[in-house]
Order: sequence, then C-alpha cells, then structure tokens
Amino acid sequence: MDISQYLKNKKEAVDSFLESYASSKNNRDGYPKELINAMSYSLLAGGKRIRPILTLASCEAVGRASDSIIPIAASLELIHTYSLIHDDLPSMDNDDFRRNKPTTHIVFGEATAILAGDALLTEAFSIISNSKAEPAVLIDVIRELTHACGPDGMVGGQSVDILLEGKRAEKEDIMYIHTHKTGALINASVRIGAIMAGAAKSQFEPLSLYGENVGLAFQVIDDILDITGTTEELGKPAGSDNVNEKNTYPSVFGIEESRKIAEALISNALKALEGFDGKADPLREIARYIISRRN
Ligand code: IPE
Ligand code: IPE
Ligand code: MG
Ligand code: MG
Ligand code: MG
Repeated sequence: MDISQYLKNKKEAVDSFLESYASSKNNRDGYPKELINAMSYSLLAGGKRIRPILTLASCEAVGRASDSIIPIAASLELIHTYSLIHDDLPSMDNDDFRRNKPTTHIVFGEATAILAGDALLTEAFSIISNSKAEPAVLIDVIRELTHACGPDGMVGGQSVDILLEGKRAEKEDIMYIHTHKTGALINASVRIGAIMAGAAKSQFEPLSLYGENVGLAFQVIDDILDITGTTEELGKPAGSDNVNEKNTYPSVFGIEESRKIAEALISNALKALEGFDGKADPLREIARYIISRRN
C-alpha cells in the first residue's frame, strides 16, 4: 500500500475537521478573541496528525469504516497541541519555534499560551461528549484519555522529564519518562480507535501492545532526530535536548543503541499485529514510517 497517500488523505480529513472547529469558534465577536486566536494559531500551524491517524487506522484494522469517528480522532490533536504549547513554555523546554512557526508564547505571550493550552485540553472533552456514539462507549474513550493525559500519563512523564533535567537518569527513569510523556497518548490513540470500532478483547489486547511499542519508539526517534535533524527539517529547534540537559535515549544509551531499541520496538509492534488481516496494513506501514521519518 501507498502509506504516504494514506497519511495525506487522513491528514486532510483531520485538518478539515479542525479548520471547521476553529472557524466555528472564530466566528464569534468580542471576547475571548485573543484566546481563540492563540488556540487556532497552534492547532492549525500544521503537524503530522499522527495520533488521530492512528485512531482512524486502528478503527479500520478492526474492520470498521473510520469516517464517523473523525471528531473523536481530532480531539486527540487538541490534547497533543495543548501539550506542545505547554512543553515549549520558558519554564518547560523554552523553545521559540514549533511546526515551522514562532511558538504560541512568542506570538501571544506566556499567559495566553498557558490559557490556550488549558482551553484546548478542555475542548477535546467537549468534542467527545458531543459525538454520536453510545454514552457507555464515550465514557470508555474519556477514561482512556484522562488516564493517558493526567498524572498517570503524559503530565506525569513531563513532570519527571523536567525534574531530572541536568541530573543522571537511570534506565528505568528514562523508560518511565518516555512511556508516559509520549507513549501514553499514542497508545491511547490506538486504543480509542479500537474502542470506537467495538473491538473484541482478542483484538483490543494486541492493538494495545502495538500502541505501547510504537508510542515508545516514537519518542526514541524524536530524541535521535533532535541530534541528527536540522531545525529546518524538524520545524522545531534541533539540539534543544542538549541545551536543556535532558535525559534522552541517546544520552543514556548512545545513538546507535537507541536506534536498535527503536527497531526492536517496531518489530514488536508488527509482531503484535500478526493475527490481523490486510485491514491492519495502514497500522503496519505507520509503524515503519515512525522509524524512518525525518521530522
Ligand atoms: C512532538 O510530536 C512531540 C512529541 C511527543 C515527540 P510530533 O512529532 O507528533 O509533532 P507534530 O504534531 O507533528 O508537530
Ligand atoms: C514532548 O517531548 C512530549 C510532550 C508531551 C509534548 P519533547 O520535549 O521531546 O518534544 P519536542 O521535541 O519538544 O517536540
Ligand atoms: Mg519536553
Ligand atoms: Mg520539547
Ligand atoms: Mg524532543
């Protein structure tokens, strides 16, 4: 299959939902215009949309068409964008460039950037609660997301990432950071697609194993690209981890070993899908794309 065409089509579908979401907010007059502008600026700046695409591909792997779950998939992008806005703040990674543009706090100031992040997080749950699906299914989706984003997920990982800056992390520490700050939301993206498709336990468990492995691999590759990529390629400052004295897979294991770890994770992810038919090919190709990507 042609994965670049698949990624392009799905990205367009997600972007089109996000654009109409943003314009529904923008059409309002008056307050809080600056907040809405900051939310739209970050959300529509671009981005690979890999989390929503994983949700759509996971739903399809179970054998269900994914068009009707685009809003649910796109809600993951609101949460991810919030996490990026906060991640770039001066008190966090202090980065001034993201998705090929000046970061939200550079354009709108720190207070509005913090609030735009808060607003995007909250709005994700509003989109989900307004989606057409059985209430019990939506509660399962919300349970997944709150777990993946909160102290037991992304925010927990970000907290340890920040607290161990400049300190020597052990292997268990770096594993905790990466599986939480990035792996949790990526795995939730896959699991939510499966939930929306009504996956049986026998499908849900291998999909979740796939999600765990690609989620960690994604951050290992992000760390490698921070060293080997350029700011132009990445659309965000190359070398940021070194400046911030971050603990990364390359800083703990070296670049070559990190690449081997990422390859092993991707091969585990592919193995997890062995019982699936050709409808899981997009998931298989996304796993291969994650390791070969240049941004
Ligand atoms: C960057 O995520 C932050 C990480 C969790 C590594 P992406 O690489 O998915 O960034 P965008 O959404 O494409 O900008
Ligand atoms: C970010 O990890 C994880 C998030 C939860 C946003 P990084 O700090 O490595 O992400 P980039 O490299 O700034 O995109
Ligand atoms: Mg960070
Ligand atoms: Mg960062
Ligand atoms: Mg990074």
